[in-house]
Amino acid sequence: MSSQFGYANRRLNRAVRELVLKSGLARGATVVDYGCADRPYVQLVPYGVNYVGVDLPGNPEADLEIAADGAIPVPSGTADLVLSTQVLEHVDDPRAYLAECMRVLRPGGTLLLTTHGIMYYHPDPEDYWRWTCAGIRRLIEDQGFSVLELRGVLGLVAASLQLIQDRTCWRVPRRVRRLYVAAMQMLIALSDRRDTDASRATNSWTIAILARKAE
Ligand SMILES: C[S@@+](CC[C@H](N)C(=O)[O-])C[C@H]1O[C@@H](n2cnc3c(N)ncnc32)[C@H](O)[C@@H]1O
Repeated sequence: MSSQFGYANRRLNRAVRELVLKSGLARGATVVDYGCADRPYVQLVPYGVNYVGVDLPGNPEADLEIAADGAIPVPSGTADLVLSTQVLEHVDDPRAYLAECMRVLRPGGTLLLTTHGIMYYHPDPEDYWRWTCAGIRRLIEDQGFSVLELRGVLGLVAASLQLIQDRTCWRVPRRVRRLYVAAMQMLIALSDRRDTDASRATNSWTIAILARKAE
């Protein structure tokens, strides 16, 4: 069902778009999408900026493959932005993954990372981790990054409704399932709009972070 995550995905897309803009990419810059899958954000990369999609072996949409030890064939200090969207929860060693992000970034380069706060198990190829706002901030700062911004995508009530929708919609008779999902999506949007940025950042479906490597 394509609209199952309609509202949540629109909010996530908006957060990524705004944070890409804030990262201040200049013409000739390089973006490394580390765990790119089908490159959902390639169209957000401004004209004149190089985009390199990197993923596990077997993804025909990737430009480069991740080695068995997690290393990527990108020279140190060459990326202006590392994009890591919905990858960290799937990585067996998040510290090693973030260290690789740090290695490929140039001094002053930025990491734009999104990952789940509240979500059910969804392996790709595995699903290991969830973070609180404090836990993800600490993990990223422990790697030497400065967090510039931390946002929540969907607050606690909206995230809870989204999970309820996902687990109940398949039990709803087929003929009214579309209507059920549309009604739930409206409820999710309404409850999310009543939330504040601060409470959304405290308990969220997805956490979006912009962090900088020191100059
Ligand atoms: C849920 S998908 C997210 C894909 C895409 N970034 C997006 O936002 O839609 C998870 C991605 O993480 C990749 N992945 C899984 N384990 C990884 C690892 N150890 N290192 C890097 N990427 C990994 C998967 O191959 C997959 O492309």
